[in-house]
Amino acid sequence: MTKTIGIIGAGQLGLMIAQAAARLGARTICLDPSADAPAFGVCDEHIVAAFDDLAALEELCRRSDVVTYEFENVPGDILRTLADRYNIKQGIEPLIDSQDRLREKSRAVESGLRCARFADIADMDTLKRKAGEFGYPCILKSRRLGYDGHGQMMIHSVDDLAAAEKMLSVPCILEEFVRFDYEASVISVGDEQTGYIHFPVGRNIHSGGILDLSIVPAPEMNDDLRRRMVAKSEEFMRRNRYRGIMAIEYFVVGDEFYFNEMAPRPHNSGHYTIEGCTTDQYRELCRYLLDMPLEEPRLKAPTVMKNILGQDLAAAERIAAAHNDNVYVHLYGKSESRPKRKMGHITFVGLDADGYYETWQDKFVKQN
Ligand SMILES: Nc1ncnc2c1ncn2[C@@H]1O[C@H](COP(=O)(O)OP(=O)(O)O)[C@@H](O)[C@H]1O
Ligand SMILES: [Mg+2]
Repeated sequence: MTKTIGIIGAGQLGLMIAQAAARLGARTICLDPSADAPAFGVCDEHIVAAFDDLAALEELCRRSDVVTYEFENVPGDILRTLADRYNIKQGIEPLIDSQDRLREKSRAVESGLRCARFADIADMDTLKRKAGEFGYPCILKSRRLGYDGHGQMMIHSVDDLAAAEKMLSVPCILEEFVRFDYEASVISVGDEQTGYIHFPVGRNIHSGGILDLSIVPAPEMNDDLRRRMVAKSEEFMRRNRYRGIMAIEYFVVGDEFYFNEMAPRPHNSGHYTIEGCTTDQYRELCRYLLDMPLEEPRLKAPTVMKNILGQDLAAAERIAAAHNDNVYVHLYGKSESRPKRKMGHITFVGLDADGYYETWQDKFVKQN
């Protein structure tokens, strides 16, 4: 019998989940506050409602066999009410834990992962004391609702502390600045019963707090480091009984890696899996949700993923209109384009970092 997957959120991640679900013969229903959300164009049914509208979320659950989320900030009390009565197969714990940077980093440390030093900051005195302890620069982040570098501020010296005070109207966390060699992410799917699969690990290059490129495999990473990173990610899921999909962002320093943050949903750095791997993050999430066996992914060829923000939309449209073998342009169909807004992505299969820089980099706006 055809199953229906309910998706809380209908952005680009919802869009790609819905596409993967359709290929597996499943139906989808999405809920999102904006009437022209990207996934609404491809899902079977949709509900336009706020993420804190309990009645609407309940309606989504009622009309679904299994429910997942691509939006991370559904209020915890609403989630608890729903999880008691409906099949939110991943559970609500990973979502609730990922909503609060203090909570997620504490979980990581308790699970044996290394984190840069961090401290809960509620007032100016604690900020001054901890900044003195961690040294400069350090980073002040709101504990909740941050994304793409929003809700964070780099504190370069004592002189920046006064300007940081306005951030303290909400609970914050202060982090030691990590002079990382590079960033990487591990995306895993599974649970204790199904076992876990892990996607090939890429190097992520951010610009202005937003992911710009994922380069897979991460060129600098040796097999031992990759194995340890994947093993720690799996252990983190096991110890916390997290189920379904989990993406973990790491900072790599030499032979060591530091947990930065987690997301219990498909991840921007995993877009490359759609064409770069034998199975992709959206498909494996759907297979998990639909109680199908998981497939271990393999990288088909070195792959580079370039995020298309508003400033690069015109270039991406030109590339989409031309013929280029092994270049896959995804445009999300968002009605309004703005600089720094994620409008699409391009996956280059069979290309390494050098090839990308030589052939493609100058087609896009230079990142600062
Ligand atoms: N403690 C840190 N040390 C060094 N760089 C950091 C630190 N925290 C964040 N960054 C940089 O900022 C980017 C965005 O921060 P992150 O914590 O991942 O927030 P979000 O992705 O939710 O905006 C990171 O990918 C990294 O490039
Ligand atoms: Mg991040």
